[in-house]
Amino acid sequence: MPDKIIGFSKLSRDKKISWISKNFLDNSNEFESILNKYLNNDKNIQSIHNSLSENVISNFHLPYSISPNFIINNKNYCIPLVTEESSVIAALSNSSKFWYDKGGFKSKVVSKIKTGQVHFKYYGKPEILEKFVKENEHTLFESTDRITHKMRERGGGISNIKLVNKSKELKFYYQLNVNFNTIDSMGANFINSCLEIISKKFKELLSDSPQFKESEKKIEVIMSILSNYTPDCIVESSVECKIDDLGDIDGITSKEFAFKFKDAFDIAHIDINRAVTHNKGIMNGVDAVLISTGNDFRAVEAGIHAFASSKGKYRSLSKCSIIDNIFKISLKIPLSIGTVGGITDIHPMVKLSLKLLKNPSSDDLMNIICSVGLAQNFAAVKSLVTTGIQKGHMRMHLVNLLFKHNATKDQIDKSEEYFKNKDINSQSVKDFLDQN
Ligand code: MEV
Repeated sequence: MPDKIIGFSKLSRDKKISWISKNFLDNSNEFESILNKYLNNDKNIQSIHNSLSENVISNFHLPYSISPNFIINNKNYCIPLVTEESSVIAALSNSSKFWYDKGGFKSKVVSKIKTGQVHFKYYGKPEILEKFVKENEHTLFESTDRITHKMRERGGGISNIKLVNKSKELKFYYQLNVNFNTIDSMGANFINSCLEIISKKFKELLSDSPQFKESEKKIEVIMSILSNYTPDCIVESSVECKIDDLGDIDGITSKEFAFKFKDAFDIAHIDINRAVTHNKGIMNGVDAVLISTGNDFRAVEAGIHAFASSKGKYRSLSKCSIIDNIFKISLKIPLSIGTVGGITDIHPMVKLSLKLLKNPSSDDLMNIICSVGLAQNFAAVKSLVTTGIQKGHMRMHLVNLLFKHNATKDQIDKSEEYFKNKDINSQSVKDFLDQN
C-alpha cells in the first residue's frame, strides 16, 4: 500500500503523473500517453480546463451531440447534449421530429423561488424569537445590501426571511428560511454568501437585544446553506395531438398505441420499480442539456428526485391523459439553473451551447430542458410499448462492439444489413468480422 501523500496538489503535473504511475499503475507509460492524448492542443483552452478543478492531469471527453427539429413555444431549437449513452440522441431526435408537425412542445415557468436556510439551535421561548425575527427582518435584509444591490437592480434579490420552528422534530432546532430570486443565475454562491451574512447579523442583533435573557442569547448557528430542494422553482412542458394524428406506430394503430402508452404512464405513477426507471429516462435528456449548458446536474438530480417523492411516495414525474380523443403528455419538474455565472462565461463549449440556443434567459432554458426531458420520456415509453427498448439500443451497441473489435469502415457499413435479424453480442460480432 502506498504511503499517505501530503501536498499532492502542490506537485507539478509531471510529478503527479509519476507518483500515480509508480504507486497505482506499475509504472506504466500507457497512463501518461493516454492522458496526453486527451490534453487540448490549444494552450488557452487547456489552461481554462486546468483552472476549473484541483489536481487536473488531463481532460475527460464525452460526446457532444445535437438534436435538431425541436419546436418549443413556437421556436425552432437545435439542442446541444452531452451524454455517453448511445441510444439517447437517436431516440430524442425521433421524438422531436415526431412532435414537430404536431405543434411541438408548449412550456411555461410556473414559479421561480429558490431558498436557503440558516440552521440554528435556540434554547429560549419560541414566541419571543418569532417576534424578534419579524421585527428584524428588514435589518437582516439590509445587512446583505452590499452583495444584493446589483441583483435587486435586475429585479431579483431576497424576497423574505421567515423563522421556521422545527423544535418538535429536533430539540431546540430552528431555521431562518430565506427566499431568493436569482434572475438568470443559478445563484448558489450568491445565496450562500447572503446566508452567511444574515447568520452573522442575526447573531449580533440577538446578542444586543434586550428582549432575551442572557441564556437565551446564546444561539448556535449550525450551518448556512442553500437548499437544492426547489419545489417553488417549477417548469411544466406538454405536447398533445388528436389520437388519429399519432398515426400507426410500429405496427399498432394510433388508438392502441395511445391507450397502451397511457397504461405505461399509469404504471409508473403507482409502482416505484417502474417510476424510478421512467424518471431515469426523463433525466437522460435533462442531464444531457444541463451538462452541455454548464449547469449543476447533481443539484438538479437531487432536487428532482426529492420532488418525485414529495407526496410521501416516489412517483413518476410525467403524466399522460386521453380526454375527448386528445392524447396529451406533460412533465412538471423543479429546475434551479442558470444562463449566467458559474462556468457559463468560462467554458468555450458551454458558451457555444448557449449561443446555439440563442442565448436563452434562465426561463427559456428551463422551458427547453423540461421539453427535452418530456421528449426523451416519450421516446423511451414509445419504444417500450411497441418494439421494445432493445431494438434501438442494440443497434448502437453493435457500433460500440464493432469499434471494440477494430472493424473497418467497410465492415461497419455492411453490418447493419447482416444483423437485421440476428442477435448482437460479442461472439456474433467476432463471427461477422471473420467472415467479412
Ligand atoms: C434507459 O437509459 C432509459 C429507459 O430505461 C427509460 C424507461 O424505461 O422509460 C429506456
